[in-house]
Amino acid sequence: MEVNIRKKVGQAIDKAKSFDFWAWLDERAKLSELPLVGTPDYMFKLGYWTGGMTAAAFFWQVISGLLLLMYYEPGNAYSSTEYIVNNVAFGKILLASHLYGAYAMIFLAFVHLFRNYFVGAYKKPRELQWVLGVIMGAAVLGTAFFGYSLVGDTLSVDGADVAKGLLQGAPLGSLLLNIFFGPGGETAQFTRVLAWHITLAALVALLFALHLGLAEQNGVMPSPKLFNYKSPAELDRKEAPKWWPNNFLYTAAILFWVWGFILIIPSILLMLPQGSIPILLSPLPGPSPTSAAAASIPPYPLWFFLNVYKIVDFQLPLFQGGSGPFIAVTVGGIIPLLYLLLLPFLDRSDKLHPLDRMVHTVIIIWLITVWLIIYAIWGALTPGLPIPPIRVAEVTLIPTAIILAGMAFVYATWKGPKPGNMKQPTLREIAVKRAYATLVLAFLVAVEVIITAALWKVLPDGSFEPMIGVLVGAGLVVFGEIIALYRYIAYPPKPGRSK
Ligand code: HEM
Repeated sequence: MEVNIRKKVGQAIDKAKSFDFWAWLDERAKLSELPLVGTPDYMFKLGYWTGGMTAAAFFWQVISGLLLLMYYEPGNAYSSTEYIVNNVAFGKILLASHLYGAYAMIFLAFVHLFRNYFVGAYKKPRELQWVLGVIMGAAVLGTAFFGYSLVGDTLSVDGADVAKGLLQGAPLGSLLLNIFFGPGGETAQFTRVLAWHITLAALVALLFALHLGLAEQNGVMPSPKLFNYKSPAELDRKEAPKWWPNNFLYTAAILFWVWGFILIIPSILLMLPQGSIPILLSPLPGPSPTSAAAASIPPYPLWFFLNVYKIVDFQLPLFQGGSGPFIAVTVGGIIPLLYLLLLPFLDRSDKLHPLDRMVHTVIIIWLITVWLIIYAIWGALTPGLPIPPIRVAEVTLIPTAIILAGMAFVYATWKGPKPGNMKQPTLREIAVKRAYATLVLAFLVAVEVIITAALWKVLPDGSFEPMIGVLVGAGLVVFGEIIALYRYIAYPPKPGRSK
């Protein structure tokens, strides 16, 4: 009898040990049959997942945006926003994380775009993916602008007024004004702006579906090194590893990491004393436009519009007169965007190394450093201050000369592209890394338990709201890391496989 029980327990343990949860789930949901392409081992690095990170931020925006929609009233824009901040449970974190989710999404979209430039991912066969991506980026900037204009605080009203002023100078200005900001009156304006905010977010979702569909068709851009730095660089679909569950697990890890940071950063800012955070980074709305405090706040746009906002201040002859600001926005905003959009058709060579595409590489480096960074910092430091042409020339031409000289030097000393294979880990390296990952995983599980216990303690007290945001965010980041480590331990790389 005793022997029998022992045998049965032994069998049950063996069965539990050999149970494969992912295979069990797959048999029921047929997830491995989804038309998604897997990635080789060397691609499990953040650099290959910048698009996934941007998408994760977008999903956060949709969820938090729909929750905000339950409380937001276009007829009482500012007071309903105040209500969310002061009366809705976790409303502060909800609104602040929607704002910082937008910041994260836009920052990650820029990183994604420029990374794709440097690896040549706009070349055949990915031209359409690139074009869709740039259009999507413009739609995201538009969504963020309309979202910001919904709040009804002094910054948001100033931002909308600046945009209205610009439109007035555009061809068909009054028609465009009516389309984007309604026929007049506050409620009509906020209702129209809300409609645009959601319509553009839906457009982003549609473009994202197409963009992802093409990415699946063409596979992730492999390392150009493996293709002699020549396009077309495509994974061999027949040889491509399975998507399920390796890629699924890494995607989940990315999602939790991004969501965690979107919660942690504004929650920490919410804990700092009011007034210690520069207005540009404030996680909460500013004062009402009719308050006395509003008078001392200069009109600042969202940080990712600061560069174009500064260009409007340039006192160049072309930018003067009634339609001057509109021309400035066209030159400073629309032309760079058009350049990015048309890049695959302007650079038709098959070269994938950035130094083999010098003209465009110099333009892209100029756009990153001068157009995006220097002009934006300038805009933050001197909001609305007119800039004489001589200062424009100084601030523009000095860094331009440095970039040209630096790139000329790099090019002169460059010995040409070095094709090769990806370095594959040895069996021993994999074993050591797995052992190390197992230790860290055990430690992180303990950390996760502590975070959950702390959360349990502070959760009933609403006054700890930012602390709850930090704890939930940290819990998500740690959970993402646990998933990533588990993925490595359960599905380690195969030694000696490079494509
Ligand atoms: C279905 C998707 C979305 C919905 C339903 C939605 C809804 C909303 C609502 C109702 C507000 C007003 C909050 C208030 O003032 O009380 C808002 C603000 C905002 N939204 Fe969205 N949103 C969505 C997606 C996005 C996306 C994709 C972005 C940009 C990447 C974005 C960026 C913003 C920004 C920057 C604000 C201002 C937040 C602040 O200043 O505190 N939203 N959104």
